[in-house]
Amino acid sequence: MSRPDKHELSSLSFNTLSVHGGNEIDKTSGAIRTPIVMANSYLLPDDPSTMDWSDTEAPSYTRNSGHNQICLQRKLAALEGGDDAAVFATGVAALHAVFFTFLKSGDHVIVGDVTYEAVWRLFAELLPQRYQIEATFVDMGDMDAVRAAVRPNTKLIHTETIANPTTKVADIARLASIAKEAGALLSIDSTFTPPPFFRPLELGADLVTHSLTKYINGHGDAMGGVVIGSKALIHHIKADALVDLGGTISPFNAWLIMRGSVTLPLRLKQQYSSAEAVAAYLATDKRVAYVTYPGLENHHQHALAKRQFASKGYGAVMAFAVDGDPDTQNHFVANLKVITSAVSLGHDETLIVHVGGSGRGGSDRYPPNFQKYGHLRLSIGLEDAEDLIADIRHALDETFGRS
Ligand SMILES: Cc1ncc(COP(=O)(O)O)c(C=O)c1O
Repeated sequence: MSRPDKHELSSLSFNTLSVHGGNEIDKTSGAIRTPIVMANSYLLPDDPSTMDWSDTEAPSYTRNSGHNQICLQRKLAALEGGDDAAVFATGVAALHAVFFTFLKSGDHVIVGDVTYEAVWRLFAELLPQRYQIEATFVDMGDMDAVRAAVRPNTKLIHTETIANPTTKVADIARLASIAKEAGALLSIDSTFTPPPFFRPLELGADLVTHSLTKYINGHGDAMGGVVIGSKALIHHIKADALVDLGGTISPFNAWLIMRGSVTLPLRLKQQYSSAEAVAAYLATDKRVAYVTYPGLENHHQHALAKRQFASKGYGAVMAFAVDGDPDTQNHFVANLKVITSAVSLGHDETLIVHVGGSGRGGSDRYPPNFQKYGHLRLSIGLEDAEDLIADIRHALDETFGRS
């Protein structure tokens, strides 16, 4: 019996791909799930003298390539609709691989004005100060602002589909046409919007990154990152950033993420629908100072979100605050019993993290409500929405008294 090859994979529907993509029957044992290959090195050919020691296709040394990496890369490329993928130890390593590979001193980048903190720091501090790479931070929903930021030396436009933590939405198709005109690459961090519900390559993005730590693994027990795109771009990334920088994922984590991703579409459906219910509840409780979620009609970019995400769902992350000072926010969190106070998102369990109104990373980029109250970032998990809403209502009652 054989499994679908790379070309046959592209004709499979998403649920089927999530189960079978990249998985191989083990030739030695007959195991029907790809085993974990915890080897640093692979047998060399009889005559290695003509070998390319930096080859990232045929495994020789696990920093460059290994069996579990290859299987995961094949699966993720198929899920996202790209030709190839490069997997890394973390999402940040994958993002850095993009920036390191395609930028050099004197280049200019246009970056979303709200991004994951590490990306903000890279472009606001490390890359300009150490490597003279200049960045302009722009609202990625405002196409006039993006167009105005383009310079002759603009090499990359980078943004998140839905920005962490304010849930600002980027208009990917329009950004793709601006990037094309400018001769720049469009790099999209789609961590908040995994496939199948959104696939930025179909809208013209050149590179898509995910923190695999989040939805694609989905179980909160392994870190990883991926970049997906054309064969040529991914080859460049592997050659420069994987072989020579070495942020390689462990075979065990690649295997865990492969396993976690089997249930990705089922998990997303549940998480998206619960998120809509929880956001709708938060929007009606008077003890909540604000809630921002692209699926709510009061989100300032709801129309764009609706058009872009084609009503398939608006993700499962929202930000809100209760009506009070930082101690009140902490008190509310301490009263939660089902929802866990911890960083990260996209896990099987619902996570909340309280971030104050001021702090490193320039929260002056965030909307006034975020600055006034701080924010609670809420990532909806797989629990029933009714239990999550009851948990929040109970914690609000304990904090403020019954409504
Ligand atoms: C949107 C986004 N991109 C990238 C990352 C970084 O991923 P990792 O923690 O796997 O390095 C995160 C982490 O929270 C994130 O939210």
